[in-house]
Amino acid sequence: MNARDNSVERLLLSAAARGTSTTYVMKGASKAKALDVYHLILAPTHACNLRCTHCYLPDHDPHFLPESTALRILDEWSDIVLEERGQYQGIFPVKGGEPFVTPYLGKIIDRLVELKTLQIMLTTNGTVCTARTFEMLRRAQVGLDGQMIVIVSLDGATAASHDKLRGPGTFDTTVGFIRTIRDLGINTHLNCVLYSGNAGEVSDYLTLSKTLGVGQVNFLPLVPKGFGLDLRAVQETHVTLHRRIQSAHALGDQDVKQLLAGSLSDIKVRERDQGAVTAHECVAAYRGLFYITPEGAVYTCPNLLGSDHALGNVNQDALLTLCNRLPDLYSKIRGFEGRRDQYICTGERVLYEKNRDRANQTSLRELQKELAQTTFDQGDEVVAYCVSRNF
Ligand SMILES: C[S@@+](CC[C@H](N)C(=O)[O-])C[C@H]1O[C@@H](n2cnc3c(N)ncnc32)[C@H](O)[C@@H]1O
Ligand code: SF4
Repeated sequence: MNARDNSVERLLLSAAARGTSTTYVMKGASKAKALDVYHLILAPTHACNLRCTHCYLPDHDPHFLPESTALRILDEWSDIVLEERGQYQGIFPVKGGEPFVTPYLGKIIDRLVELKTLQIMLTTNGTVCTARTFEMLRRAQVGLDGQMIVIVSLDGATAASHDKLRGPGTFDTTVGFIRTIRDLGINTHLNCVLYSGNAGEVSDYLTLSKTLGVGQVNFLPLVPKGFGLDLRAVQETHVTLHRRIQSAHALGDQDVKQLLAGSLSDIKVRERDQGAVTAHECVAAYRGLFYITPEGAVYTCPNLLGSDHALGNVNQDALLTLCNRLPDLYSKIRGFEGRRDQYICTGERVLYEKNRDRANQTSLRELQKELAQTTFDQGDEVVAYCVSRNF
């Protein structure tokens, strides 16, 4: 067994010893309209070292949310999580832009380590491979007792399909990054945005993921938004993507099924084998789900960024005040009586309605029809999921 296999083994053993899983599924109880594990997703900046053609951001403005504001909301979030959920039952995900270009990321990590109340999640392109990056990750991993997930964006099983979106040479750099952090024993997940150039690689991607020893793979549909608006021509329909993942899930071994935790295929298995009832809605506007932009604007999730549905701004509003505005937002985005967003992302639906994007509205409805379940929202155990998984 080589050094890498050893570290993967160590990670799995230590996760088992802690009684924790290497997978993570964002979900909440439909009755309470609240996430099980709270998330405050912070995009401290849109600045980035890459220029991915599909990026949903509206710009790469090098503006940063002030450090003092970021640390203040971290403290407020910690209080809310402790009061409403308990230690480590809340996450502080940092994305962007690229989190590793944020000058005060180390301060965020230090504060989290001091508090020991919140898990950290980082979504990164895995190309800022400096000593500072790996030192921060090591500090977080040790200081938070492993309560950390690093999600690395790898958009294909081959350099050709990944580099087409992210730029020449990025596949090799990112794969190297993944190997390095796996050797540090860090629970690593992958995000892969599916488009026509990589959709045929789902099965190869899962094989590569096993080789890399990651804990989970999130396949995301390409949302034509921001810089990615021009990529509509390479989008595949939601049903086509689901069928590709479904086929890999059905044919895959237990490791593949585990890697696909939280996918629609996994949700259907939960319904069939565990009798779980899936809610008629996703978790958007549930208590415990915020997304904060570099300007301090607060949305309930990244897919509503730029919509007419901001909750407020952290420069004026306390997080608790914003929490109390969620029920109002919930009724605004849920639309007319009888609408069912059972297996679709409400943020995407709202975007396509706003843009009058009929093709994508139909694409979402077809997915809904394909997966339709006849039982809706009965009993106390109805579960709502984040089906877009862009967290
Ligand atoms: C905006 S990026 C920020 C974090 C980091 N820079 C990265 O690339 O991972 C967050 C996640 O959104 C995904 N993403 C970007 N553009 C997208 C789009 N148009 N549709 C769906 N997901 C997208 C990225 O692949 C990444 O996993
Ligand atoms: S997807 Fe991430 S890495 Fe790519 S340009 Fe957007 S923020 Fe940067």
